[in-house]
Amino acid sequence: MPRFVIDPDIARAKTPDTGLYTDPALFELAKERLFAASWQFIGSTDLVKEPGDACPLTLLEHYIDEPLVLTKDKAGKIRLLSNVCTHRGNILVHEPCKVNHLRCRYHGRLFHPDGKFHSMPEFKEVKDFPGKNDDLAELPLFQWGKWLFTSLGNQPPAASFLQEIMDRLHWLPFDDFSFRPELSRDFTVRANWALYCENYLEGFHIPFVHAGLNAVIDFGNYTTELFKYSNLQLGIAKDDEACFDLPPSSPDHGKKVAAYYFFVFPNLMLNFYPWGLSVNIVKPVSLSETRVSFLTYVCDEKKYNSGAGSGLDTVEIEDEEVVEAVQKGVRSRFYSYGRYSVTREQGTHHFHRMLAEWIG
Ligand code: FES
Ligand SMILES: [Fe+2]
Repeated sequence: MPRFVIDPDIARAKTPDTGLYTDPALFELAKERLFAASWQFIGSTDLVKEPGDACPLTLLEHYIDEPLVLTKDKAGKIRLLSNVCTHRGNILVHEPCKVNHLRCRYHGRLFHPDGKFHSMPEFKEVKDFPGKNDDLAELPLFQWGKWLFTSLGNQPPAASFLQEIMDRLHWLPFDDFSFRPELSRDFTVRANWALYCENYLEGFHIPFVHAGLNAVIDFGNYTTELFKYSNLQLGIAKDDEACFDLPPSSPDHGKKVAAYYFFVFPNLMLNFYPWGLSVNIVKPVSLSETRVSFLTYVCDEKKYNSGAGSGLDTVEIEDEEVVEAVQKGVRSRFYSYGRYSVTREQGTHHFHRMLAEWIG
């Protein structure tokens, strides 16, 4: 397995060895060390609007593939539970529904909405039953605004991934954001998931790859800020292109912000535009295939599809093309690593340092 160390000094650092994108053992290792151990975006409170609602989810389908179910009880409390019956492992909930109890269709085991074992036919003779193991596991749930995050592992607290973002955007009108399934879609990219992320993490390629975006963003004033397990690229609007109307309490008040591009390690992008939020979740499928889920939340319909937040499908296709070409390049025997631009690739360097910290 390639070991990689990234020099903290970007001016001296080399990019990771290409094994990062081509080694099956590293791809497997990342499952536990990165994806299970970090905070994963699972959606919003829109998934369970009414008390009694239950909504099944698969965490990182095709990779971690963990069956989960989101429930809302009578008191309005939202929980995230294992969706696997503790008897012989059947999946409990197959589609969004309303339930009083979670009932397994295989042999009738019943669970309370909080996951506690309720009852089971033909089990009177069973000794030491029910025990802790007969309840459904409950996962940690972190909520920011209406957005929900969970973690499967012994993760650092959610705040070490999200605090800077929450502070920076404390003024957002959370209640105005509504999930728009018809504006949401998945893209399949024939490239390793890390290549997709590192492309996102630098605006360096904007003038070369995204003519449309380059026309509305002031490239000279594009900045990158690094936090512990997240970072922010701030896109400033050119001339009178669409920008946020920031309140005086915003740390960016006075700037013509066209977009906040937040990256949350290891695989989440929260792109805020004056019209709302485009969430991109990067989901590894195989070593050389990635699915990227674009989830759209609109808060101001009139501004939708303007400025830096317009033509996102075109921008995505432009990114895919270049990332898929890089996927071919990193397999070359003549390429093993590169160097970073000190002024334009801080985000990519930061990503590689975090990868080295977590799996290096
Ligand atoms: S597997 Fe659920 S009751 Fe048997
Ligand atoms: Fe791009």
